[in-house]
Amino acid sequence: MGETVKMLLTEEEVNRRITEVAEEINKDYNGEPIHMICILKGGVMFMCELAKRIKGPVSFDFMDVSSYGHNTESSGVIKILKDLDEDIEGRNVLLVEDIIDTGKTLNKLSQLLYTRGPKSIKICTMLDKPSRRVEKEVFVDYRCFQIPNKFVVGYGLDYNQKYRNLPYIGVVEFENE
Ligand code: IMP
Ligand code: MG
Repeated sequence: MGETVKMLLTEEEVNRRITEVAEEINKDYNGEPIHMICILKGGVMFMCELAKRIKGPVSFDFMDVSSYGHNTESSGVIKILKDLDEDIEGRNVLLVEDIIDTGKTLNKLSQLLYTRGPKSIKICTMLDKPSRRVEKEVFVDYRCFQIPNKFVVGYGLDYNQKYRNLPYIGVVEFENE
């Protein structure tokens, strides 16, 4: 079975929107230091493009988590594959995600990070599939795009580790045969 990728959001559309969201962030933080935490691996390209547009002092850290379970859907129990290198106590954490689907991963992750005493935690996602949300308590502070319930790739997002390098967001269409 093969698949094709159909354009959903062009590189220009994505970059234009990232610029707008960065301006919102610049206004809100008003020069305060921002500790950006990227959720690997999907959030990498978005985090870089976003960070380039942030005016105040920025630091980076990375975390890799996976949901326990056998299927493609989040189970709501997360396993830390790579923890943060630095302490977040007293810092303004900005969690940077590629996409929020059910919200289970981010819900559990932000609960965990709150126990480490940050000054604040805000969530910034490139894509949001609100129709899929089951965790109502996930509050998304910044989002670039709301998208329909389609499987998307590109700009960091993968299908079986493929397509992360596409400079645009595309919808995967599966061909039978
Ligand atoms: P959830 O919000 O806990 O359901 O899981 C979100 C995670 O699932 C994201 O960070 C992605 O890694 C992955 N994911 C969800 N939807 C897609 C998609 O359309 N394409 C690629 N990965 C996705
Ligand atoms: Mg992810």
